[in-house]
Amino acid sequence: MKKSKVRDCLLTTDKCHSARSEESKRDSSPIGLRMTKRVAKHPQVILDMDPGIDDALALLLALNSPEIQILGISTVAGNASVEMTSANARRVLEYMGVTNIPVAMGAAKPLEHPLVNALSYHGSDGLGECGLPSPMLSLHPAKAWDFIAQLVSGAPGEITLVATGPLTNVAHAFKLHPELPKFLTKLVFMGGAYGLTPYGKGNQTPLAEFNIWQDPEAAYIVLNSGAVIYAVGLDVSTNPTTCLNNQHLEQLKAGHTPAARLAAQLAEYVIKRHGRCELHDPLALAVLLDTSLFNFISVPVEIVTRDGWDRGITHISPSDSSQLIHVAAGVDGARFLKLFLSRILRTPSNTTHHSGPFARPIIPSEAKNLDPSLSLRVTKTTSKLEK
Ligand code: BDR
Ligand code: CA
Repeated sequence: MKKSKVRDCLLTTDKCHSARSEESKRDSSPIGLRMTKRVAKHPQVILDMDPGIDDALALLLALNSPEIQILGISTVAGNASVEMTSANARRVLEYMGVTNIPVAMGAAKPLEHPLVNALSYHGSDGLGECGLPSPMLSLHPAKAWDFIAQLVSGAPGEITLVATGPLTNVAHAFKLHPELPKFLTKLVFMGGAYGLTPYGKGNQTPLAEFNIWQDPEAAYIVLNSGAVIYAVGLDVSTNPTTCLNNQHLEQLKAGHTPAARLAAQLAEYVIKRHGRCELHDPLALAVLLDTSLFNFISVPVEIVTRDGWDRGITHISPSDSSQLIHVAAGVDGARFLKLFLSRILRTPSNTTHHSGPFARPIIPSEAKNLDPSLSLRVTKTTSKLEK
């Protein structure tokens, strides 16, 4: 792509306009496979994550957002080992009393490098030593990439994938099932630092963001897959207007719902150590809840995969060959935080529904362990969650 074309792209900040037109093109393009035009009442979502404190906050936000339907969760190594992130996803689900969202475990390490975890930030259990018990529900038997592929191929054009960890599982899924990128409604991922705002610098190295730096080879595959892709990077997620501070923490502490109690504890762990709690992953999820919170620009993105000081950097590229990615270049932080807090503090209604074709009843061996008022049980046995 010529420099002037990149500049034109950079100037396209009209809140997803180009992204929408690209999606509508996708809807009408014959790809040789059945693409249903039916608009699901509740957008169907798969969460690919590495919980992780902010992943857990994103999961709480998703669970309390009635306009989306969570079909399943796939877990990846990133903030912690994949065993720990898989346990953490289920610890949060069970704490919230949700037993019908399947969790499928994915990659134990990035494609070509060993894992470098972030437990020094997220705490020894990956969840700020919150004291939630080990999970009782079993994992889904499929590997994450087959799990994603089965769900997406079963409803082509209807499912959005939200990835808030390294893109390893998504890259495996796209390599093994090349039709998938075209079958997704879109992929929204948290990752990258694009130099689009004063905050668009690195958090793992001076210029590289953690998720991309962890597995740049995977990011390269995904960002060149042909999927419709939205990127939420540090340019917006470290903007102070999107972060929780002590005042927000007091609001969460005053909340009486299980989600508010857990969110307060997770946020407090980070705020005590860093003065604020960055909401990287909830911000990525918010793209599905209110796209008008963001300004996206459509640009080609290059990923540095070579070893060296610049490994994992995401550049807006002058290259002709890369596909256009919709990168968040601006955010209405106050409105985002209002949305986040109101969702976390709300009492979920009976109409909030999740799970999809993989949902299954609890089998008796699990049921005997499950207390019907799980959140109550957890708060009673876990001193840190006691009010
Ligand atoms: C990303 O890195 C992880 O530690 C967070 O969970 C988030 O997904 C931010 O760079
Ligand atoms: Ca994450």
